[in-house]
Amino acid sequence: MRELCVTVFLFLPVVLFATETAKDKKEMPPLHHVVKVKPPKGMKLPEDFPLNDQQQIDCQTCHGVEDIENTPFDKVDKQADNFHRGGPYKKLSDFCYKCHAKKEQQRPNIHKLLDDNKKYDEKACEYCHKKAPDPKKKIDRQKLEFRLPPQKLCFGCHLKTPHLNALNHLVKPGKKMAKRIKASEKKQNVILPLDNDGKVMCATCHTPHQPGVIDEKKPAGKQVADVDLDKGVSYVEHPWNSVYQQDKKMRLQKLAQKSGETYNLTYKRLEHEVLLRLPAKDGTLCQACHEFER
Ligand code: HEC
Ligand code: HEC
Ligand code: HEC
Ligand code: HEC
Ligand code: HEC
Ligand code: HEC
Repeated sequence: MRELCVTVFLFLPVVLFATETAKDKKEMPPLHHVVKVKPPKGMKLPEDFPLNDQQQIDCQTCHGVEDIENTPFDKVDKQADNFHRGGPYKKLSDFCYKCHAKKEQQRPNIHKLLDDNKKYDEKACEYCHKKAPDPKKKIDRQKLEFRLPPQKLCFGCHLKTPHLNALNHLVKPGKKMAKRIKASEKKQNVILPLDNDGKVMCATCHTPHQPGVIDEKKPAGKQVADVDLDKGVSYVEHPWNSVYQQDKKMRLQKLAQKSGETYNLTYKRLEHEVLLRLPAKDGTLCQACHEFER
């Protein structure tokens, strides 16, 4: 359940951004779910949720309201039983679970590697590592071997777009930034490892290891964790926000005018951080690579 709540927050800004660039299409309600994408292989939709002729999810997949795409959004009957196809639903998440796997059916939290005695099972390490490396030894990172290239390790369990800006970060930093990254690693006594092609990967910003697996005094063991792994990341406001705030402000104001309600959803800041190599809350992580004007 937690994941879903979190995810709901997370996909909002992504969608907002996406709709912004699709100028030619009809403007979707702000903060709306993605449309016109093919369900991934693992996702099974209920049989009475029709896809469009390109096998994508579309308005009719999720909404039983006739001709919703041609109805002004403020004229759409959102109270209709079939507004969410198969409804009414007690909770919106029950609707989401029609297509998305429920938490309990998903994979275990592989990051929880330590038992109560701070011991670990090497088999868990070998979910990712070919052979569990000994954290006490000095490690030559070039020699670490994984069961998949490290930049692909996360995708079995996480979306490629787990949050705004994740996907467009998986690129090779320019020369100037590469230098800054090196300098930051030294200055902060941390690693910001790039993949074999020199690109940013998920594990550049995130450590996959629970605190305590690798000695926190080692650069590879340095990480932010001000909350339990079970609780995970939480938000008061979204940290990527500063970048899009201006843009959002206008859209949200427009929406507020239209609906008479105030939308604060997207103004979320990171409250707790886990599995991050440097804090993002205060901008330290971002500035390890970027030179932002404050
Ligand atoms: C994957 C499912 C899905 C698809 C596909 C989808 N929607 Fe939605 N739509 C939702 C959900 C969920 C909500 C309600 C969000 C909420 O209640 O917070 C919603 C809400 C809406 C609303 C009401 C927004 C408001 O609050 O005013 C409209 C209008 C709407 N959708 C139109 C469309 C149109 C038009 C399409 C096709 C271009 C479409 N939707 C495709 C899931 C979907
Ligand atoms: C009709 C099936 C369907 C329903 C119902 C549905 N989704 Fe989705 N959802 C999809 C598909 C298909 C994708 C895109 C495939 C992918 O990348 O995993 C997707 C993608 C997402 C994403 C990733 C967005 C992105 O930008 O990559 C999130 C988050 C999400 N859905 C949350 C929800 C939530 C929350 C609800 C309930 C309000 C919901 N979904 C209801 C089918 C559905
Ligand atoms: C979810 C995948 C995953 C799991 C599970 C995992 N690791 Fe790792 N580990 C990685 C990745 C990715 C790196 C590489 C980061 C880098 O390039 O330095 C790494 C690096 C390491 C390093 C090298 C750190 C350094 O000094 O550079 C050690 C030691 C290590 N892991 C130990 C372990 C142990 C012990 C376990 C089990 C208790 C474990 N790992 C479980 C993904 C994982
Ligand atoms: C440039 C740094 C950076 C990269 C690259 C990055 N992340 Fe993140 N990630 C963050 C930050 C910062 C947060 C916490 C706040 C947020 O969501 O923006 C986060 C949060 C998360 C969360 C927690 C979301 C939640 O609320 O539960 C997951 C899961 C995650 N990232 C997975 C990934 C995966 C998988 C990749 C690779 C596709 C990735 N990240 C790439 C910086 C990054
Ligand atoms: C075997 C599945 C699996 C793999 C592989 C995996 N994760 Fe996770 N990860 C999880 C689960 C389960 C959680 C618990 C929170 C959740 O359900 O989203 C989690 C949580 C996280 C979180 C914190 C989100 C939070 O709110 O607690 C981050 C960040 C994260 N993973 C990053 C990564 C990165 C980076 C990789 C690749 C190096 C990776 N994960 C590989 C299953 C996995
Ligand atoms: C490991 C280095 C690294 C970290 C950490 C990092 N970035 Fe980036 N960021 C990049 C790279 C590489 C790009 C690709 C474009 C470029 O070279 O400027 C990029 C691009 C961006 C862009 C432009 C995206 C686009 O679509 O063009 C924004 C905005 C951004 N980063 C914000 C952030 C914020 C906010 C944080 C902290 C939460 C952060 N970055 C952390 C390396 C990083």
